[in-house]
Amino acid sequence: MRKNGLVISIDGTAGTGKSTVGKAVAQKLGYGFLSTGELYRALAYKVYEAQLLPQDGAAVLALAQRLTFTFVRQPDAVLKMHVDGEYLGSKLHLEEVGNVASQVSTHKEARAVLTEKMRQAGQDGGIIMEGRDIGTVVFPDAEVKFYLSATAQQRAKRRVKQLQEAGEHPDYDKILALIEERDYRDSHRAASPLKPADGAFIIDTSHMTLEQVVETILEKISHYAA
Ligand code: DC
Repeated sequence: MRKNGLVISIDGTAGTGKSTVGKAVAQKLGYGFLSTGELYRALAYKVYEAQLLPQDGAAVLALAQRLTFTFVRQPDAVLKMHVDGEYLGSKLHLEEVGNVASQVSTHKEARAVLTEKMRQAGQDGGIIMEGRDIGTVVFPDAEVKFYLSATAQQRAKRRVKQLQEAGEHPDYDKILALIEERDYRDSHRAASPLKPADGAFIIDTSHMTLEQVVETILEKISHYAA
């Protein structure tokens, strides 16, 4: 039994709605929500800023070890992250940063450093953590585990819609290619490849609304005592 409740993991590929769904579920439960890709994105951003090569495992590791992460829970459940005291905000959500994040996240030693930070943030429970390896590596002892999937085409469509709503003019084929490239790298890397954890509830969200996914997850969680 943890101090603040359950640890709930939501893993899956990019664009399956993990963040939106995880945040909504956390709000319903009065839990915190952490999108762990933020840590990889922050590392990628710092790698870029320091003009290091994402492929340079030793340099990426040294940088990861120097970074300090702090998390403060916001009224909307999200754990707001500061890196070395700075809030990096929307800079982390550029498509290019996501792509470099996927590259830096192939380094096993750097992953171990970030994994430790995630464990510190979640060990007392009362948290939903969304990522790629939460149920398999970060919290193999998470009380409830989910794995969300959706076709690449469906995810590209969602991403295009999101970007259009933000006033951009995205190219569907380019977005689809980026998604497929990231999927391949995330699921074929040697270190903690993306795969469903043992005992995870697998939900194919391709033809579900976000509300339906939230309801499905809440229903499963209701069988576990906090
Ligand atoms: O979920 P996201 O798009 O913000 O994640 C960015 C990258 O970080 C993703 O391509 C793979 C990596 N990542 C990871 O390897 N493990 C996690 N737990 C979360 C993200």
